[in-house]
Amino acid sequence: MENTETVPVVRTVAALRQIVKEWKALGHRVGLVPTMGALHHGHLSLVDEIAEACDKIIVSIFVNPAQFGAHEDLSKYPRQELEDRKKLKSTKTDLVFAPEVGEMYPDSFETVVSVPKLGRDYEGVHRPGHFEGVATVVSKLIIQSYADTAIFGEKDYQQLAVIKKFVKDLDIPCEILGGTLIRESDGLAASSRNVYLSPEDRKTAGSFNKILKKLIKGAEAGGNLRALEKTATESLLDAGFTKVDYVAIVDKDTLIPIDKVNGEARVISVARFGNTRLLDNMAINPDKPD
Ligand code: PAF
Repeated sequence: MENTETVPVVRTVAALRQIVKEWKALGHRVGLVPTMGALHHGHLSLVDEIAEACDKIIVSIFVNPAQFGAHEDLSKYPRQELEDRKKLKSTKTDLVFAPEVGEMYPDSFETVVSVPKLGRDYEGVHRPGHFEGVATVVSKLIIQSYADTAIFGEKDYQQLAVIKKFVKDLDIPCEILGGTLIRESDGLAASSRNVYLSPEDRKTAGSFNKILKKLIKGAEAGGNLRALEKTATESLLDAGFTKVDYVAIVDKDTLIPIDKVNGEARVISVARFGNTRLLDNMAINPDKPD
């Protein structure tokens, strides 16, 4: 009997394509929201955003082993598919695609999609091989689903830039949207990894966005960008973060560090509690109206 409490799921590319072909025959525009599950309100808002541009929506749930390093949290990454499919019932999601690892990476699989320059710094330094894993799986998901549009949260700003780049370079006929970064009530960026934080760390984590906001004020007022990055790093450590992987003021498209803010730029940052890495980023825009 059909389960009316959850969004239906398919687990094979053949079953996914069969459904999508029927939608396309009816002239529907298909949207894809790739996720690794453990859905929070940030993911649900991606569904709401893509619903404005698409008639049918697929959410993929796949914890992609190829994007985890040897010492990362692949085995303990939260997996709660049934709960996720129940949450999606309150959204406009039509179908969940939740393949097994063997469906995505059969034994004979060997192709890698790489964006070497844009993926080299920041996350590329701290998570070697990560963006190759992301680019490869996202290419597959887009091709498997024939998606017209796909959306990725702006929280993972470098990931979004890497995805836009290979989609453009490879002429993949899919529009890529950046989804609004969703924050908790204290300003911490919503993330599936926030569940790893102890109650004490969770309190400190709220200071992250406040420290970045201060940096932005300084940058928009014409302050020295390297000095602002250094002050923000020190403030994060003073607040109780155990390590700061980077705070960088960069060009919003190339992610190359800039010396002067001319028009819109971006601050991207990762601060840690132990092995838990929290990502944040914000626009710097001296020309915006008050
Ligand atoms: O951002 C994520 O959750 C993942 O990197 C993605 C895009 C679903 C690819 O596995």
